[in-house]
Amino acid sequence: MLLAGGSQPLRLICFWGMVLASEKFSCPSTCSCQYLEVNCTGQQLQEFPATIPLDSRQLILATNNISHLPPVELSFLADLVYLDCRENRLGDHLDFTFIGMAKLVYLDLSFNRLTHVTFSTFSQLISLVVLKMSDNPSLVQIEKDAFANNTWLRYLDVSRTGLLFLHTSTVRDLRHLRFLGLSDNPWHCNCSFLDFTTWMTKTNIHFPDAENITCYVPEGLRGLKMPAVQVQLQANCLTRLHKQDYIFLCLIGFCIFSAGTVAAWLAGICAVIYEVHTAKGEDEEEEEEETIT
Ligand SMILES: *[C@@H]1O[C@H](CO)[C@@H](O)[C@H](O)[C@H]1NC(C)=O
Ligand SMILES: *[C@@H]1O[C@H](CO)[C@@H](O)[C@H](O)[C@H]1NC(C)=O
Ligand SMILES: *[C@@H]1O[C@H](CO)[C@@H](O)[C@H](O)[C@H]1NC(C)=O
Ligand SMILES: *[C@@H]1O[C@H](CO)[C@@H](O)[C@H](O)[C@H]1NC(C)=O
Ligand SMILES: *[C@@H]1O[C@H](CO)[C@@H](O)[C@H](O)[C@H]1NC(C)=O
Repeated sequence: MLLAGGSQPLRLICFWGMVLASEKFSCPSTCSCQYLEVNCTGQQLQEFPATIPLDSRQLILATNNISHLPPVELSFLADLVYLDCRENRLGDHLDFTFIGMAKLVYLDLSFNRLTHVTFSTFSQLISLVVLKMSDNPSLVQIEKDAFANNTWLRYLDVSRTGLLFLHTSTVRDLRHLRFLGLSDNPWHCNCSFLDFTTWMTKTNIHFPDAENITCYVPEGLRGLKMPAVQVQLQANCLTRLHKQDYIFLCLIGFCIFSAGTVAAWLAGICAVIYEVHTAKGEDEEEEEEETIT
């Protein structure tokens, strides 16, 4: 009884010793591993390190030359909460990369070569709170429903990218969003942006570096700040609407006019027919009366 009770903790210690040993063994040679944290900053890695302890919570791959994240290896790291990939060469093949990473809260992809973000890029990251994608000069498109599954997103940075346009619903529907970086992008301030500027004035989200959230296209609005450019957009876009309205009104007027004319014409014909008919009737009656007498 005593012996059995004593061997229990001993076995536990042995078990944890083996676990620790295996973890130490599996730390990538160029990285430093502390408790549940793997740090591979600035090691000139060309590829994702192969032997990352499977129970890691935090993985830092910043400042390397990694161009590809292997989805299968990433999916083994199911407990990962924090992934820092800033300053690498990650490109446009990120769709379906972050599968099975339901616990990931922090993802830094800034200073990379992202080009497009679709629904499939982040749709599995249902716990994501912080997403940094700033300083990706080749990032030109974020699909309308790109963050539809990232309902906990609180911090989103897309500053200093090649983005021309962002759908209002992409960010408006994120209930927990508090910080949205939009500065130094070549924003295309056409009439589709009116909705976005209107939303910016209404929301209480913080837009850092607001001085540098400006229009780049069209020429006439270049350098104007958002959302102040809303006034110009309203003037441009709503007068165009007025012109359409005039055409519409003219058409409606013409329709009413022609319908009226046709109706009056028909009524006239009916009246004439009725009159002729009744006159005929009277004549016949008179004729009948004459024959009787
Ligand atoms: C990771 O390592 C780099 C240098 O090797 C260091 O500057 C940085 O602070 C480390 N990061 C963390 C979170 O420990
Ligand atoms: C990445 O590779 C290029 C050459 O291919 C090299 O000049 C650069 O220093 C590398 N960067 C890092 C962070 O290792
Ligand atoms: C979106 O999130 C839900 C859970 O909130 C998950 O079940 C679903 O698989 C996700 N959709 C995709 C396409 O990843
Ligand atoms: C405004 O510009 C964006 C990006 O170039 C484009 O997707 C959108 O269709 C444009 N909208 C209008 C009304 O021209
Ligand atoms: C705005 O952009 C200019 C030029 O790119 C830069 O010099 C300035 O520091 C930026 N403003 C802020 C508040 O960062």
